[in-house]
Amino acid sequence: MTGGAGFIGSAYVRNLLLRRDGTRITVLDKLTVTGNRANLDPIVEDPALAERFRFVHGDVADPGVVGELVAMADAVINFAAESHVDRSIIEAEAFLRTGVIGVHVLLEAIRREAIRAAAGERARAPRLVQVSTDEVYGSVAGGRSTESDPLAPRSPYAAAKAAGDLLAHSYAVTHGTDIVVSRGSNTYGPFQHPEKLIPLFVTNAIDDRPLPLYGDGLQERDWLHVDDHAAAVDHILRHGSAGEVYNVVGDAHLTNREVARRLLDELGKPWSLVRTVEDRPGHDRRYAMDGARLAALGWRPGVSFRAGLAATIGWYRAHEAWWRAARSGAWEAWYERQYATRLAGSRKA
Ligand code: NAD
Ligand code: DAU
Repeated sequence: MTGGAGFIGSAYVRNLLLRRDGTRITVLDKLTVTGNRANLDPIVEDPALAERFRFVHGDVADPGVVGELVAMADAVINFAAESHVDRSIIEAEAFLRTGVIGVHVLLEAIRREAIRAAAGERARAPRLVQVSTDEVYGSVAGGRSTESDPLAPRSPYAAAKAAGDLLAHSYAVTHGTDIVVSRGSNTYGPFQHPEKLIPLFVTNAIDDRPLPLYGDGLQERDWLHVDDHAAAVDHILRHGSAGEVYNVVGDAHLTNREVARRLLDELGKPWSLVRTVEDRPGHDRRYAMDGARLAALGWRPGVSFRAGLAATIGWYRAHEAWWRAARSGAWEAWYERQYATRLAGSRKA
C-alpha cells in the first residue's frame, strides 16, 4: 500500500496487522509533510507485527520502485496523496504528480502483472483500491451524491483526485484492470497531521491559541472516524465489485461552527478562542453522500461522532509529544503563511 505513513493509511496498517491473521504489508511512502514514521511505531515496536511489515521510502510516481513492489503484491491500496486543500490552492503541482501520474504508474504496473498472469507467470494480477474522496462531487447544495453523479471538483486537490478516479475507471474499461474506488468523507481521529480542521483546532485550543474559522463557518461536512474509514477500504478491497465506486459516509453532518463548539465544550475552553478569518478561496459549502451502495455490501460506520471526538481529543491530550513534534519546523512556516494575515484581520465569531 502507498501512503501508509499518513493519517488514514497508518490506521489501516495498525488495525490490519493487529488482527494477527498472517497478512503482510509493504508500505511505500514518500514521507511528505504529513507522512510520519512515528505513526507506524506501534507496529515496528512489536516484533511479531514488525516481522510482517516492510517500509519502503519512495515515490508512487516512480515506475521502477512501484513495478518491483506490485510484482510481489496480492493487492494494492493507494492512499498516497497530497491531501490538504489549502496547500493545493498555494502550490498544486505535487498534487498532480502524486494524484494523477502516481495513479497512472500504479495502473501500468498492475496491467503488466495482468499480462504476466495471462502468460501463467503468476496466479492473478493484484486488485487496486483507489482511495478517493467526496470532494470529487464538488459542493452539493442539497440532497446526497450517489456514485453515478457527475464529477465536479472545485479545488486543485479535488481536481487531481477526480483525475485519478477517471484514469482508474478508464483502465477498468479499456484494459479490464481490476480496480475499485472508495470515496470517503471528512475523516478525523488520532495521528492526523495538525493542519486539518479538527487536529488544528484541538491543539490550538489546548494551547489557548485562536481557532481560525473560515468565513461564516456554516460550511457542512460529514465526519467519519478514521477506524471506520480504514475498515471500509478493507471491506471494499475484499467484497467490492470490479470497476465499481463506493461512497464511504460517516452520517455526522455538521457545520464547522458546530464542530468548533463541540470540541471546545469537550476541552472545557471558551468560545472566545474562535476567530472569524478570511475564507478559503472557492470554499465548497457542503459535502453529503449517499452510502446505500456500501451498506448493501454489508458495511456501516460504527463510531458515533460524539464518542469519536471525545476519544480523539483524549488521544491528542495524551500524545502531546507527537503533535508538538508535528507542529515544529516546516509546520510553523506553514502556519505563519496561512494564518498570520488572516488572524491579524480576524473578528469575533
Ligand atoms: P495524509 O496526508 O495524512 O497521508 C498521505 C500519505 O501519502 C503521507 O504519508 C504522504 O507521505 C504520502 N505521500 C504523498 N505523496 C506521495 C508520493 N508521491 N509517493 C508516496 N507517498 C506519498 O492523508 P490522509 O488524510 O491519510 O488521506 C489518505 C487518502 O485518503 C488520500 O488519498 C486522500 O485523498 C483520501 N481521503 C482523505 C480524507 C480525509 O478526510 N483525510 C477523506 C477522504 C479521502
Ligand atoms: O471531504 C474529504 C476531504 O476532507 C479529504 O479529501 C481531504 O483530504 C481532507 O483534507 C478534508 O478536506 P477539507 O478541506 O474538508 O478538510 P479541512 O480539515 O482542511 O477543512 C474542513 C473544513 O474546515 C472546511 O470547510 C474548511 C474549514 N477550516 C479548515 C481549516 C484548516 C476552517 O474553517 N479553518 C481552518 O483553519
